[in-house]
Amino acid sequence: MTKPAKKLFLKTFGCQMNVYDSERIAEALAPLGYGETQEIGEADLVILNTCHIREKAAEKVYSELGRIGGIKSARRERGRDTVIAVAGCVAQAEGRAIVERAPVVDIVVGPQSYHRLPDLLVRARREDRHVVDTEFPEEDKFRRLPARGAGRRPPAAFLTVQEGCDKFCTFCVVPYTRGAEYSRAVAEIVTEAERLAQAGVREVTLLGQNVNAYHGQGPDGAAWSLARLLRRIAAVSGIERVRYTTSHPRDMDDDLIAVHGEVEEVMPYLHLPFQAGSDRILAAMNRKHTVDDYRRLIARIREARPDIALSTDIIVGFPGETDAEFDATLRLVDEVTFAQAYSFKYSPRPGTPAATIEEQVPEPVKADRLAALQQALNAQKAAFNAACVGRTMPVLLERPGRLAGQLVGRSPYLQPVHTMAPESRVGEIAAVEIVSAGPNSLEGDTKSESDLPLEVAALH
Ligand code: SAH
Ligand code: SF4
Ligand code: F3S
Repeated sequence: MTKPAKKLFLKTFGCQMNVYDSERIAEALAPLGYGETQEIGEADLVILNTCHIREKAAEKVYSELGRIGGIKSARRERGRDTVIAVAGCVAQAEGRAIVERAPVVDIVVGPQSYHRLPDLLVRARREDRHVVDTEFPEEDKFRRLPARGAGRRPPAAFLTVQEGCDKFCTFCVVPYTRGAEYSRAVAEIVTEAERLAQAGVREVTLLGQNVNAYHGQGPDGAAWSLARLLRRIAAVSGIERVRYTTSHPRDMDDDLIAVHGEVEEVMPYLHLPFQAGSDRILAAMNRKHTVDDYRRLIARIREARPDIALSTDIIVGFPGETDAEFDATLRLVDEVTFAQAYSFKYSPRPGTPAATIEEQVPEPVKADRLAALQQALNAQKAAFNAACVGRTMPVLLERPGRLAGQLVGRSPYLQPVHTMAPESRVGEIAAVEIVSAGPNSLEGDTKSESDLPLEVAALH
């Protein structure tokens, strides 16, 4: 094989949807001769795929651009040109302001128009000026992007099925950066899942900012729910595990809950953000659910799938949150118990309604609340992990670990599992006896037979 003529350095920030988009961006640029490099100094094209969700995430991009500007100058001294592109949600939110603040940037491209990158690259070069494309174009990017390649892939893959959000939580930028809610058609998703399976993928995670609001057109012309889509993807030959994220409590319907009890391929893990444990704060957030709605939902999900591992997102220090309201968040955490969770200090985002509320919570109060919350969540995670010791679990062996002879995989509950096994077993769903548990991962012995009776399937 000839070496690719040009090198691409692609750095991804933010959520899984950006990880997916980055893969598609790399695939869209491959026909132009771009091969990926991990060495930024070698790159002819640098793309930052950015996240705007919290201030810290967005600011990281500018510090990164400062560093990359230095690399660009050093390369220029060696007679090498470097094109710098900012993609993703900061690109969408800030547009041309990015090139004003960071003139080293050549191209700004939003999450709905990155399929146009090959053209934008030509334009940037030909016109020798900054190019900004933050449109939400009529044409569907998924249909314009090259089909997923059939070359070997790691065994777990993401697959975006839904984009955007119409919920408008008052703290959140996503409805502005990703646009209105949109579902891909079932046939398109099935074809992509089949391609992934042919490339060695055994687990797919269906992605969407509001994945359970999915309502894509089915081959029968009807709008399919996420539940129906999950059953279909579970039936794709070669796909043995299916996950989905992120869900909104309002869109957890009966059929989706039932899928967790009925479809073996759907893994016993659910990420269901609740954000806050007080009804007053939930209303101010425009979450459209109450604490009781959430409690009842969890009870029904656990009835369908008793061993399900629950995960959530929580915000502390939303404007006006009192100590008592924060305590209600801690109580809900105690009551539900999570296998793992993400928690954040509220970050005011330009253009969102909550940013203009006057009673912002002081930074030190937010920091104290976050520390108390994370202590509780970490204890729950450690307890969940510890309870796995002694069990034998089906683990999808995903990649080599840090130690020689070690592999890292995932349990059905999404915990990372370290085990000693030869690299030839990557891609296998192996029976692993869990021998010890840490705060964030498990360690286990891989059984030699690949298809021992799988405990998780027997847990219903
Ligand atoms: N669509 C998903 C989450 C998208 S963003 C959902 O509705 O649940 C991921 C998480 O970031 C959110 O769940 C929320 O907890 C957090 N988040 C979003 N905006 C934030 C902000 N302004 N400050 C702090 N955390 C925020
Ligand atoms: Fe943001 Fe709310 Fe939409 Fe989630 S549901 S993406 S938190 S606006
Ligand atoms: Fe960030 Fe955009 Fe995802 S703001 S969390 S990258 S949708």
